[in-house]
Amino acid sequence: MTDYEKIYQKEANACGEPFIEFIDFFEHLNDSNLRVLDLACGQGRDAIFIAEKGHFVLGIDLSKTGIQQILQQAKKNNLNIIGKVADALNFVPQEKFDIIVIDRLLHMFKSDMERQSVLENMRFAVKNNGFILIADTPKNKPFIAKFFDSNQWTTVLDKTNFTFVRKLSKT
Ligand SMILES: C[S@@+](CC[C@H](N)C(=O)[O-])C[C@H]1O[C@@H](n2cnc3c(N)ncnc32)[C@H](O)[C@@H]1O
Repeated sequence: MTDYEKIYQKEANACGEPFIEFIDFFEHLNDSNLRVLDLACGQGRDAIFIAEKGHFVLGIDLSKTGIQQILQQAKKNNLNIIGKVADALNFVPQEKFDIIVIDRLLHMFKSDMERQSVLENMRFAVKNNGFILIADTPKNKPFIAKFFDSNQWTTVLDKTNFTFVRKLSKT
């Protein structure tokens, strides 16, 4: 298993630039000042550009160094980010979010059971009409598609490495 704590200690921006799919999604949002959860935010490649757009971001990650780096950046640039060291496997959000970003976390888990348990928590943590934006390896695509295959969700982006879904409000 890749030790991101060590990688982040040695290298800034270790995961590279944000994916264009995430940038496009946030560029085309009409709403401002949304509440966004970045689950496994790493060094903040998503959290920082999202907060720069005027949204609040709660970023959680196992890596203490990643969280420290995000918080330094947030302070320097006056961004509305809270960072917490936490394990996504037992992280139960205490509020509902407009958008949940899960950028290359799911493949880090050992089994579909773990992926299922994390997605179950996220299913409840997103508001009606809110979005869950997932980037992951193609190997996990069928599992992710099956998880969101119900009339509670509509898919807004479906590409090999990306599944973006929206939670429909109940009628
Ligand atoms: C491939 S990196 C992606 C980081 C970030 N989402 C990005 O796209 O730049 C995977 C991240 O997942 C974090 N991670 C792995 N297992 C985790 C867990 N159980 N809970 C929280 N974070 C975890 C790692 O520390 C690392 O920052």
